[in-house]
Amino acid sequence: MAEKMGNLKRTNYCGDITEEFIDSEVVLMGWVQRQRSLGSIIFVDLRDREGICQIVFDEKCPKEIKEKAEKLHNEYVIAIKGRVRKRSSINEKIKTGKVEVLASELKILAESEVPPIYVKDDDNVAENMRLKYRTLDLRKPSMQRNLKIRSQIYKITRDFFNENGFIEVETPMLTKPTPEGARDYLVPSRVNAGKFYALPQSPQLLKQLLMVSGLDRYIQITKCFRDEDLRANRQPEFTQIDLEMSFVDEEDVMTINERFLQRLFKELLNIDIELPLRRMKYSEAMERFGVDKPDLRFGMELKNISDLVKDSGFKIFEDAVKIGSVRGINAVGGAEALSKKKIKRLESFVKDFKAKGLSYIKIGDEIESTISKFLSPEKLDEIIKVFDGKKGDLILLVADKDNIVFDALGNLRNELARELDLIDNNSYELLWITEFPLFEYSEDEGRYVAKHHPFTAPNDEDLDIVLTNPEKARAKAYDIVINGDEMGGGSIRINDSQIQNTMFKALGFSEEEAKEKFGFLLEAFKYGAPPHGGLAFGLDRLTMLFTGAESIRDVIAFPKTQSATCLLTGAPTELTDKQLSEVHVKVIESK
Ligand code: AMO
Repeated sequence: MAEKMGNLKRTNYCGDITEEFIDSEVVLMGWVQRQRSLGSIIFVDLRDREGICQIVFDEKCPKEIKEKAEKLHNEYVIAIKGRVRKRSSINEKIKTGKVEVLASELKILAESEVPPIYVKDDDNVAENMRLKYRTLDLRKPSMQRNLKIRSQIYKITRDFFNENGFIEVETPMLTKPTPEGARDYLVPSRVNAGKFYALPQSPQLLKQLLMVSGLDRYIQITKCFRDEDLRANRQPEFTQIDLEMSFVDEEDVMTINERFLQRLFKELLNIDIELPLRRMKYSEAMERFGVDKPDLRFGMELKNISDLVKDSGFKIFEDAVKIGSVRGINAVGGAEALSKKKIKRLESFVKDFKAKGLSYIKIGDEIESTISKFLSPEKLDEIIKVFDGKKGDLILLVADKDNIVFDALGNLRNELARELDLIDNNSYELLWITEFPLFEYSEDEGRYVAKHHPFTAPNDEDLDIVLTNPEKARAKAYDIVINGDEMGGGSIRINDSQIQNTMFKALGFSEEEAKEKFGFLLEAFKYGAPPHGGLAFGLDRLTMLFTGAESIRDVIAFPKTQSATCLLTGAPTELTDKQLSEVHVKVIESK
């Protein structure tokens, strides 16, 4: 039966007991990591949030305590009192490894059944087990560390923005659909039959209203909800560091936010980040790296060989140049490292990005190429020159529409860097991507959609072409990219109703539609909207960066699976007929 703590008061965390405590009496409480009984002596590794401390029950220990210590199993919760002494066999791996506590008292505060997963980091347990038994999983040192770093990020965020005049304001979770472009999570209203709230995809419109209200600088650490396809760094419910500022331009927003990042790097990793960060236009990022979030920790830039091959006689390349381009990358040293089988795998990799194929030129003792029968040796040489190809290199080429070429090669570049082990995991490359296109064409919807959101301001020089040449119009939008991951993004917003109407027109919204969707914002803007702009960081992604976690689920206490379920609580669940009728909802079977 569980005992009470009684008059035992914890004096320290297990993980904090070091040599300076030698000879002092301590009371520790925590979980049994393991118990080893050597007959006359029993050792217990006692674990809490701060680490593990070795407890000893020796020959002199009273019999009834020894008997209790014999009964201890993994994950029992105990309290012990004892004297700290030097250990005979030192464990250099842990902070408490030079000492142990000779126990004189023991209380079993809670027993534990045999846990379904071990509480230890190097245990190769399947992720669904980890998520199902999350409480045990969170006891692991790595998970405790991740949550501590996450908590430090909250603190640094609040300190930094508070010091810089930002006011923290909460915005509602039960709201109207926001313009981020994913599907909404919907909540039925009981008191308003047939009506639904949307959980916010971000506080976008509300933070803009706060600027119209004169708050001047707003910050919030907030949950956002997006019903979208999940990937390694996406969750349906995630956290943003969301902010908005009045009377600013792009540079003002970028400057304060890079100072914030500088502070995070200093406080969390003791790394000095030099400011200002590099700024790169979207068009340059695409041309050189094929993606709008380039990983600059390695080279392998894309090269365009369209001009070289447009009249080469090789029909596939000639046709591709007519509708797009032929581009490639040089996998330096890839001729040896990448076998035929691996190249085949890379070909199927680019096909996932809709590329029709992957041509290659392998520069070994001889040139071996999938396209040598279609191009003259001179042409091949010219191509190799463009890539600065040397013996041992492998040049990989994709020919298609530009968006497919970029997508395929941009992703291939990242894949190759992993394959060829080109990434230094201890280096950090930060940059801003600027001048994003204002629109992108949605094949699904058959119209232009806002690349960022409909309230993002066009570049001043492009105001005239918003309606006439929308694909050329650029936006006052920026993303912060770290090591090839989009950590945040934002924009300067439209605060002029004429430009806003032009924008709606370009997006194909009728006046009624715009009014129905965003009327409350447009109404507020009638009464003096200051120039404003802002940004949101993905806090979970920042935490991944600062912890080194590979999955977003390792930095969230209770995350969802790839199929948006919670294995711990079983959410989402079915509702009873009574619950459904209370909120006026009928479930229909989907086709
Ligand atoms: P955006 O949609 O770019 O901008 O989101 C900002 C940042 O949030 C993170 N993020 C996510 N993290 C985890 N899981 C997700 N599903 C997910 N989706 C986005 C990314 C991203 O860069 N309202 C605008 C910001 C603004 O304009 O001020 C917005 O939400 O790191």
